[in-house]
Amino acid sequence: MGHEWRPTWTWETTLEAGDDMKTIELSAYGDESVLGLVERDSLEPPLDGRLRVRVEARDVNPVDLATRAGAMGNIPNRPFPIVLGWDFAGTMIDAGAGLAIGQRVLGMIPWFADDQQQGSYAEEVTVQPGWIAALPDSVAFAAASTMPANGLAALQAVEAAAIQPGDTVLVTGASGAVGGFVTRLLVGRGKTVFAVASNDDEHYVASLGAGQVLKRGAVADLVAAVKRFEPGGVDVVIDTVPLGPQAVAAVKDGGRFVTIQGQRAPGAERGITVTGVRVKTDAKQLAFLVEALAAGRLSTRIAGVIPLEQAGEAHRLVGAGQAGRGKVVLTS
Ligand SMILES: NC(=O)c1ccc[n+]([C@@H]2O[C@H](COP(=O)([O-])OP(=O)(O)OC[C@H]3O[C@@H](n4cnc5c(N)ncnc54)[C@H](OP(=O)(O)O)[C@@H]3O)[C@@H](O)[C@H]2O)c1
Repeated sequence: MGHEWRPTWTWETTLEAGDDMKTIELSAYGDESVLGLVERDSLEPPLDGRLRVRVEARDVNPVDLATRAGAMGNIPNRPFPIVLGWDFAGTMIDAGAGLAIGQRVLGMIPWFADDQQQGSYAEEVTVQPGWIAALPDSVAFAAASTMPANGLAALQAVEAAAIQPGDTVLVTGASGAVGGFVTRLLVGRGKTVFAVASNDDEHYVASLGAGQVLKRGAVADLVAAVKRFEPGGVDVVIDTVPLGPQAVAAVKDGGRFVTIQGQRAPGAERGITVTGVRVKTDAKQLAFLVEALAAGRLSTRIAGVIPLEQAGEAHRLVGAGQAGRGKVVLTS
Protein backbone atom coordinates (compact mmCIF):
# COMPACT_ATOMS: atom_id res chain seq x y z
CA MET A 1 0.00 0.00 0.00
CA GLY A 2 2.30 2.73 -1.24
CA HIS A 3 -0.25 5.53 -0.56
CA GLU A 4 -0.61 4.82 3.13
CA TRP A 5 0.32 7.83 5.26
CA ARG A 6 2.64 7.25 8.21
CA PRO A 7 3.67 9.83 10.81
CA THR A 8 7.35 10.60 11.20
CA TRP A 9 6.86 10.52 15.00
CA THR A 10 5.61 7.85 17.41
CA TRP A 11 2.84 8.06 20.01
CA GLU A 12 4.17 8.65 23.52
CA THR A 13 0.92 7.83 25.30
CA THR A 14 -1.79 5.28 24.80
CA LEU A 15 -5.42 5.64 25.89
CA GLU A 16 -5.72 2.62 28.09
CA ALA A 17 -8.86 0.82 29.04
CA GLY A 18 -9.50 1.49 32.70
CA ASP A 19 -8.82 5.23 32.57
CA ASP A 20 -10.68 7.13 35.24
CA MET A 21 -13.85 9.06 34.66
CA LYS A 22 -15.19 11.91 36.74
CA THR A 23 -18.37 11.00 38.57
CA ILE A 24 -20.57 12.90 41.00
CA GLU A 25 -21.61 10.60 43.80
CA LEU A 26 -24.38 11.08 46.31
CA SER A 27 -23.07 9.71 49.60
CA ALA A 28 -26.24 10.28 51.67
CA TYR A 29 -29.54 12.14 51.34
CA GLY A 30 -29.19 15.80 52.23
CA ASP A 31 -28.32 19.25 50.94
CA GLU A 32 -25.98 19.88 48.00
CA SER A 33 -22.90 19.14 50.12
CA VAL A 34 -23.65 15.38 49.79
CA LEU A 35 -22.68 15.58 46.09
CA GLY A 36 -19.01 14.71 45.85
CA LEU A 37 -16.60 14.44 42.93
CA VAL A 38 -14.80 11.08 42.63
CA GLU A 39 -12.76 9.32 39.96
CA ARG A 40 -14.19 5.94 39.00
CA ASP A 41 -12.76 3.38 36.60
CA SER A 42 -14.05 3.79 33.05
CA LEU A 43 -16.85 1.40 32.15
CA GLU A 44 -15.54 -1.86 30.71
CA PRO A 45 -17.09 -4.79 28.81
CA PRO A 46 -18.95 -7.05 29.33
CA LEU A 47 -21.76 -4.52 29.19
CA ASP A 48 -24.74 -6.85 29.39
CA GLY A 49 -26.09 -5.80 25.98
CA ARG A 50 -25.62 -2.12 26.71
CA LEU A 51 -23.69 0.53 24.84
CA ARG A 52 -21.33 3.07 26.31
CA VAL A 53 -21.85 6.77 25.73
CA ARG A 54 -19.29 9.48 26.55
CA VAL A 55 -21.46 12.15 28.15
CA GLU A 56 -20.75 15.75 27.20
CA ALA A 57 -23.79 17.35 28.85
CA ARG A 58 -26.62 16.51 31.23
CA ASP A 59 -29.22 18.87 32.68
CA VAL A 60 -30.26 19.30 36.29
CA ASN A 61 -33.90 18.32 36.74
CA PRO A 62 -36.26 18.90 39.70
CA VAL A 63 -36.31 15.13 40.31
CA ASP A 64 -32.52 15.18 40.87
CA LEU A 65 -32.90 17.74 43.65
CA ALA A 66 -35.83 15.84 45.18
CA THR A 67 -33.93 12.54 45.06
CA ARG A 68 -30.81 14.11 46.58
CA ALA A 69 -32.85 15.61 49.41
CA GLY A 70 -34.47 12.23 50.16
CA ALA A 71 -37.93 13.51 49.16
CA MET A 72 -38.40 10.50 46.86
CA GLY A 73 -37.73 8.15 49.80
CA ASN A 74 -35.17 5.37 49.80
CA ILE A 75 -34.65 4.20 46.23
CA PRO A 76 -35.13 0.41 46.10
CA ASN A 77 -32.02 -1.57 45.10
CA ARG A 78 -29.93 1.60 45.11
CA PRO A 79 -27.35 1.60 47.89
CA PHE A 80 -25.05 4.57 48.39
CA PRO A 81 -23.09 5.91 46.67
CA ILE A 82 -25.77 6.91 44.16
CA VAL A 83 -25.16 8.67 40.83
CA LEU A 84 -28.01 11.01 39.83
CA GLY A 85 -29.03 12.08 36.33
CA TRP A 86 -31.67 11.10 33.76
CA ASP A 87 -30.73 13.06 30.63
CA PHE A 88 -27.55 13.00 28.60
CA ALA A 89 -26.06 14.08 25.29
CA GLY A 90 -22.72 12.84 24.04
CA THR A 91 -21.02 10.42 21.66
CA MET A 92 -21.13 6.66 21.21
CA ILE A 93 -18.13 4.74 22.58
CA ASP A 94 -19.55 1.45 21.23
CA ALA A 95 -21.39 0.85 17.97
CA GLY A 96 -24.97 -0.42 18.18
CA ALA A 97 -28.64 0.42 17.63
CA GLY A 98 -27.63 1.40 14.07
CA LEU A 99 -25.28 4.05 15.48
CA ALA A 100 -21.53 4.12 14.79
CA ILE A 101 -18.72 4.80 17.23
CA GLY A 102 -18.43 8.57 17.62
CA GLN A 103 -22.03 9.22 16.56
CA ARG A 104 -23.58 12.12 18.48
CA VAL A 105 -26.59 10.96 20.52
CA LEU A 106 -29.01 12.03 23.21
CA GLY A 107 -31.03 9.91 25.56
CA MET A 108 -32.78 9.31 28.83
CA ILE A 109 -31.96 6.81 31.55
CA PRO A 110 -35.20 5.57 33.16
CA TRP A 111 -33.53 6.27 36.45
CA PHE A 112 -36.02 4.79 38.94
CA ALA A 113 -36.71 1.69 36.87
CA ASP A 114 -33.11 0.82 36.09
CA ASP A 115 -31.59 -0.71 39.19
CA GLN A 116 -28.19 -1.54 37.69
CA GLN A 117 -27.56 1.84 36.12
CA GLN A 118 -25.63 4.78 37.40
CA GLY A 119 -27.06 8.11 36.29
CA SER A 120 -25.67 10.66 33.87
CA TYR A 121 -23.73 12.78 36.42
CA ALA A 122 -20.64 10.94 35.13
CA GLU A 123 -18.39 11.16 32.10
CA GLU A 124 -19.68 7.81 30.78
CA VAL A 125 -22.94 5.87 30.99
CA THR A 126 -24.10 2.53 29.64
CA VAL A 127 -27.45 2.57 27.90
CA GLN A 128 -29.95 0.22 26.32
CA PRO A 129 -30.36 0.80 22.57
CA GLY A 130 -33.99 1.90 23.07
CA TRP A 131 -32.97 4.84 25.24
CA ILE A 132 -31.04 6.84 22.63
CA ALA A 133 -31.46 8.63 19.31
CA ALA A 134 -29.02 10.23 16.88
CA LEU A 135 -28.33 13.90 17.52
CA PRO A 136 -28.04 16.18 14.48
CA ASP A 137 -24.81 18.21 14.27
CA SER A 138 -26.80 21.44 14.36
CA VAL A 139 -28.01 20.83 17.93
CA ALA A 140 -25.44 21.57 20.64
CA PHE A 141 -24.91 18.97 23.37
CA ALA A 142 -26.08 21.38 26.08
CA ALA A 143 -29.40 22.12 24.34
CA ALA A 144 -29.91 18.44 23.50
CA SER A 145 -29.43 17.41 27.13
CA THR A 146 -32.49 19.45 28.17
CA MET A 147 -34.74 17.53 25.79
CA PRO A 148 -35.08 13.80 26.64
CA ALA A 149 -36.97 13.49 29.97
CA ASN A 150 -38.85 16.77 29.64
CA GLY A 151 -39.63 16.44 25.93
CA LEU A 152 -40.74 12.82 26.27
CA ALA A 153 -42.89 13.67 29.30
CA ALA A 154 -44.45 16.54 27.34
CA LEU A 155 -45.13 14.43 24.27
CA GLN A 156 -46.54 11.58 26.34
CA ALA A 157 -48.76 14.04 28.24
CA VAL A 158 -50.09 15.46 24.96
CA GLU A 159 -50.72 11.93 23.68
CA ALA A 160 -52.50 11.01 26.94
CA ALA A 161 -54.73 14.08 26.53
CA ALA A 162 -56.23 12.55 23.36
CA ILE A 163 -56.69 16.02 21.87
CA GLN A 164 -59.68 16.35 19.54
CA PRO A 165 -60.23 18.92 16.77
CA GLY A 166 -61.36 22.23 18.30
CA ASP A 167 -60.31 21.40 21.85
CA THR A 168 -59.27 24.20 24.20
CA VAL A 169 -56.32 23.34 26.42
CA LEU A 170 -54.84 24.93 29.55
CA VAL A 171 -51.13 24.30 30.16
CA THR A 172 -49.81 25.08 33.63
CA GLY A 173 -46.08 25.72 34.13
CA ALA A 174 -45.70 26.82 30.51
CA SER A 175 -42.51 28.74 31.38
CA GLY A 176 -40.90 25.49 32.49
CA ALA A 177 -39.20 22.76 30.52
CA VAL A 178 -42.10 20.30 30.32
CA GLY A 179 -44.77 23.00 29.99
CA GLY A 180 -42.85 24.83 27.29
CA PHE A 181 -42.59 21.69 25.18
CA VAL A 182 -46.29 20.88 25.78
CA THR A 183 -47.26 24.37 24.64
CA ARG A 184 -45.20 24.14 21.46
CA LEU A 185 -46.48 20.62 20.67
CA LEU A 186 -50.09 21.82 20.97
CA VAL A 187 -49.62 25.06 19.07
CA GLY A 188 -47.88 23.04 16.37
CA ARG A 189 -51.14 21.14 15.97
CA GLY A 190 -53.16 24.36 15.77
CA LYS A 191 -54.80 24.04 19.16
CA THR A 192 -56.15 26.89 21.27
CA VAL A 193 -53.80 27.06 24.22
CA PHE A 194 -54.18 28.95 27.48
CA ALA A 195 -50.74 28.90 29.04
CA VAL A 196 -49.76 29.97 32.54
CA ALA A 197 -46.52 31.93 32.67
CA SER A 198 -44.10 32.52 35.50
CA ASN A 199 -43.81 36.13 36.65
CA ASP A 200 -42.00 38.17 33.98
CA ASP A 201 -42.15 35.23 31.58
CA GLU A 202 -45.35 36.31 29.82
CA HIS A 203 -43.46 37.45 26.73
CA TYR A 204 -41.56 34.16 26.50
CA VAL A 205 -44.73 32.08 26.79
CA ALA A 206 -46.45 34.26 24.19
CA SER A 207 -43.47 33.62 21.90
CA LEU A 208 -44.24 29.89 22.12
CA GLY A 209 -47.51 30.67 20.35
CA ALA A 210 -50.01 30.40 23.21
CA GLY A 211 -53.38 31.96 22.36
CA GLN A 212 -53.87 33.39 25.86
CA VAL A 213 -51.11 33.92 28.39
CA LEU A 214 -52.40 33.81 31.94
CA LYS A 215 -50.55 35.11 34.97
CA ARG A 216 -49.23 32.80 37.62
CA GLY A 217 -51.02 33.13 40.96
CA ALA A 218 -53.41 31.35 43.30
CA VAL A 219 -55.09 28.37 41.61
CA ALA A 220 -58.58 29.79 42.30
CA ASP A 221 -57.59 32.99 40.48
CA LEU A 222 -56.26 30.96 37.58
CA VAL A 223 -59.51 28.98 37.32
CA ALA A 224 -61.48 32.25 37.39
CA ALA A 225 -59.26 33.66 34.62
CA VAL A 226 -59.85 30.57 32.47
CA LYS A 227 -63.62 30.82 32.99
CA ARG A 228 -63.68 34.41 31.78
CA PHE A 229 -62.75 32.98 28.36
CA GLU A 230 -64.41 29.56 28.64
CA PRO A 231 -67.29 29.79 31.16
CA GLY A 232 -67.76 26.00 31.31
CA GLY A 233 -64.02 25.33 31.57
CA VAL A 234 -61.52 24.06 29.01
CA ASP A 235 -61.68 20.66 27.37
CA VAL A 236 -58.26 19.66 28.69
CA VAL A 237 -55.83 20.75 31.39
CA ILE A 238 -52.23 19.56 31.13
CA ASP A 239 -50.81 20.27 34.58
CA THR A 240 -47.02 20.34 34.43
CA VAL A 241 -46.32 22.38 37.62
CA PRO A 242 -48.12 20.27 38.98
CA LEU A 243 -50.80 22.36 40.70
CA GLY A 244 -52.83 19.28 41.63
CA PRO A 245 -56.51 18.66 42.45
CA GLN A 246 -57.57 22.33 42.69
CA ALA A 247 -56.70 22.82 39.02
CA VAL A 248 -59.31 20.21 37.99
CA ALA A 249 -61.87 23.00 38.49
CA ALA A 250 -60.62 24.55 35.22
CA VAL A 251 -61.83 21.48 33.23
CA LYS A 252 -65.34 21.36 31.83
CA ASP A 253 -67.68 18.47 32.73
CA GLY A 254 -66.59 15.31 30.93
CA GLY A 255 -63.21 16.82 29.99
CA ARG A 256 -59.66 15.52 30.55
CA PHE A 257 -57.06 16.34 33.20
CA VAL A 258 -53.53 15.14 32.54
CA THR A 259 -50.96 15.57 35.27
CA ILE A 260 -47.23 15.13 35.34
CA GLN A 261 -47.64 13.87 38.90
CA GLY A 262 -47.62 10.23 37.82
CA GLN A 263 -48.14 8.53 41.15
CA ARG A 264 -50.53 10.93 42.86
CA ALA A 265 -53.04 11.92 40.20
CA PRO A 266 -56.12 13.56 41.74
CA GLY A 267 -59.39 11.60 41.74
CA ALA A 268 -61.97 11.97 38.98
CA GLU A 269 -65.06 14.17 39.38
CA ARG A 270 -67.87 15.50 37.07
CA GLY A 271 -67.09 12.79 34.52
CA ILE A 272 -63.58 14.12 34.03
CA THR A 273 -60.92 11.62 32.98
CA VAL A 274 -57.73 11.96 35.02
CA THR A 275 -54.44 10.58 33.72
CA GLY A 276 -51.07 10.65 35.41
CA VAL A 277 -47.99 10.55 33.16
CA ARG A 278 -44.79 8.77 34.13
CA VAL A 279 -42.20 9.37 31.47
CA LYS A 280 -41.07 6.33 29.48
CA THR A 281 -38.07 5.86 27.24
CA ASP A 282 -38.99 5.76 23.55
CA ALA A 283 -36.27 6.06 20.90
CA LYS A 284 -38.75 6.88 18.10
CA GLN A 285 -40.41 9.67 20.08
CA LEU A 286 -36.97 10.98 21.02
CA ALA A 287 -35.93 11.04 17.35
CA PHE A 288 -39.14 12.95 16.52
CA LEU A 289 -38.47 15.47 19.29
CA VAL A 290 -34.84 16.15 18.42
CA GLU A 291 -35.72 16.54 14.76
CA ALA A 292 -38.30 19.15 15.80
CA LEU A 293 -35.66 20.89 17.95
CA ALA A 294 -33.22 20.93 15.04
CA ALA A 295 -35.90 22.33 12.74
CA GLY A 296 -36.85 25.09 15.21
CA ARG A 297 -40.35 23.70 15.80
CA LEU A 298 -39.43 23.13 19.44
CA SER A 299 -37.13 25.30 21.54
CA THR A 300 -35.42 25.03 24.87
CA ARG A 301 -33.98 27.49 27.37
CA ILE A 302 -30.65 27.19 29.14
CA ALA A 303 -30.11 29.23 32.28
CA GLY A 304 -26.44 28.38 32.58
CA VAL A 305 -23.72 25.89 31.77
CA ILE A 306 -21.54 24.70 34.66
CA PRO A 307 -18.75 22.07 34.75
CA LEU A 308 -19.84 18.67 36.07
CA GLU A 309 -17.39 19.08 38.95
CA GLN A 310 -19.60 21.90 40.28
CA ALA A 311 -22.81 19.84 40.45
CA GLY A 312 -23.28 20.83 44.10
CA GLU A 313 -23.19 24.51 43.22
CA ALA A 314 -25.62 23.86 40.35
CA HIS A 315 -28.03 22.19 42.78
CA ARG A 316 -27.67 25.09 45.21
CA LEU A 317 -28.49 27.64 42.50
CA VAL A 318 -31.47 25.70 41.16
CA GLY A 319 -32.80 24.93 44.64
CA ALA A 320 -32.55 28.58 45.67
CA GLY A 321 -34.27 29.74 42.46
CA GLN A 322 -31.13 31.74 41.61
CA ALA A 323 -30.15 29.97 38.39
CA GLY A 324 -32.32 32.08 36.09
CA ARG A 325 -34.84 30.94 33.51
CA GLY A 326 -34.34 27.59 31.86
CA LYS A 327 -32.26 24.54 32.66
CA VAL A 328 -28.84 24.40 34.24
CA VAL A 329 -26.58 22.10 32.24
CA LEU A 330 -23.52 20.28 33.61
CA THR A 331 -20.78 19.77 31.03
CA SER A 332 -17.90 17.27 31.02
N1 LIG B 1 -44.01 12.34 35.74
C1 LIG B 1 -42.91 12.39 35.02
O1 LIG B 1 -42.53 11.39 34.40
C2 LIG B 1 -42.12 13.67 34.94
C3 LIG B 1 -41.16 13.86 33.92
C4 LIG B 1 -40.50 15.09 33.84
C5 LIG B 1 -40.78 16.08 34.79
N2 LIG B 1 -41.68 15.81 35.77
C6 LIG B 1 -42.02 16.83 36.78
O2 LIG B 1 -42.64 17.91 36.11
C7 LIG B 1 -42.48 19.10 36.87
C8 LIG B 1 -41.97 20.21 35.96
O3 LIG B 1 -40.65 19.90 35.53
P1 LIG B 1 -39.81 20.96 34.70
O4 LIG B 1 -38.51 20.33 34.38
O5 LIG B 1 -40.65 21.50 33.60
O6 LIG B 1 -39.60 22.09 35.83
P2 LIG B 1 -39.26 23.60 35.61
O7 LIG B 1 -38.52 23.81 34.34
O8 LIG B 1 -38.68 24.06 36.90
O9 LIG B 1 -40.69 24.28 35.40
C9 LIG B 1 -41.67 24.33 36.41
C10 LIG B 1 -42.64 25.45 36.04
O10 LIG B 1 -43.73 25.47 36.97
C11 LIG B 1 -43.85 26.80 37.45
N3 LIG B 1 -44.39 26.80 38.80
C12 LIG B 1 -43.83 26.30 39.92
N4 LIG B 1 -44.66 26.46 40.95
C13 LIG B 1 -45.76 27.10 40.47
C14 LIG B 1 -46.97 27.56 41.04
N5 LIG B 1 -47.22 27.39 42.33
N6 LIG B 1 -47.87 28.16 40.23
C15 LIG B 1 -47.65 28.32 38.93
N7 LIG B 1 -46.51 27.92 38.32
C16 LIG B 1 -45.59 27.32 39.09
C17 LIG B 1 -42.47 27.35 37.43
O11 LIG B 1 -42.52 28.73 37.51
P3 LIG B 1 -41.39 29.59 38.24
O12 LIG B 1 -40.22 29.58 37.28
O13 LIG B 1 -42.00 30.94 38.38
O14 LIG B 1 -41.10 28.93 39.55
C18 LIG B 1 -41.99 26.81 36.09
O15 LIG B 1 -42.49 27.58 35.04
C19 LIG B 1 -41.50 18.73 38.00
O16 LIG B 1 -42.26 18.48 39.16
C20 LIG B 1 -40.85 17.45 37.49
O17 LIG B 1 -40.36 16.65 38.55
C21 LIG B 1 -42.35 14.64 35.86
